[in-house]
Amino acid sequence: METKKMSISDNSNQMAKDKLALCQQKIRQAKQVTVLTGAGISAESGIPTFRDKQTGLWENFRAEELASQQGFLANPKLVWQWYQMRRQLIQDKQPNAGHDALFQLEQYCQSQGKAFTLISQNVDELHEKSGSNPIKIHGNIMKNQCNSCLTPYTQDASSNELISCPKCDGLVRPSVVWFGENLPEEAWNQAYEAASQADVFMSIGTSSQVYPAAGLIDMAKSRKKHAVFVIEINPNPTEQTSVDVQFPNQAGKLLPMLINQLTN
Ligand code: OAD
Repeated sequence: METKKMSISDNSNQMAKDKLALCQQKIRQAKQVTVLTGAGISAESGIPTFRDKQTGLWENFRAEELASQQGFLANPKLVWQWYQMRRQLIQDKQPNAGHDALFQLEQYCQSQGKAFTLISQNVDELHEKSGSNPIKIHGNIMKNQCNSCLTPYTQDASSNELISCPKCDGLVRPSVVWFGENLPEEAWNQAYEAASQADVFMSIGTSSQVYPAAGLIDMAKSRKKHAVFVIEINPNPTEQTSVDVQFPNQAGKLLPMLINQLTN
């Protein structure tokens, strides 16, 4: 008789399968599934994250100069041109298997009568391109507004030159949330509600360093009625202590494995 020896990789494969099965079970049992995504979910589509070593935008550019009201007032042209450069980089990028799997998860939840909410910190439109309709708590880089009167600016804004608001002559800027600014109120209220109602909360591709978004997990965990199950997908596990299951994997690889077995 031959006994098959179990190798370390067999063992870790089994552990990964067990973790997937547990998460699938929790999703099947949930009434509300809430997902928070960050820049990491778009990384496999070729959009740089903010804080990854070497490739992260804030490793190479100064956030306070480019993503704050003070920075814009000090050098509006530099800031405008930096966002034009980022828009060009983003505009032809396509959703990856991670975005697609989240849209499938939404459809699965709807078919099972579960509530599903996707909250994204991302200012790109890759979730939308994939069919989802995320709550965008940090705005949308493809849109513009007046920095003074906040009126949306919907005319052509492809120029590298600064644009003045037709209403008040203020400067037009991208519709993203800068450091020190409040999140859009309606979007934040919806995100807060979805976090506090969640039975399963998934945190995907975020370093969980930027508040208040990073506080949504704890908000979900503080729900008193029954425990929320928190799943994190990030090749670099964060220091979030509320996580029940961590997958140290890329979202585009892990999410299809998690979702396909639910829907098939
Ligand atoms: P970060 O750049 O801080 O974090 C991205 C996370 O994604 C890191 O923890 C990576 O380890 C992880 N990651 C990288 N590749 C991944 C992959 N393929 N799959 C899964 N995870 C991966 O980005 P955010 O947490 O989104 O604000 O940053 C939060 C906010 O800070 C952003 O919304 C942005 C920034 O300033 C605005 O744009 C307004």
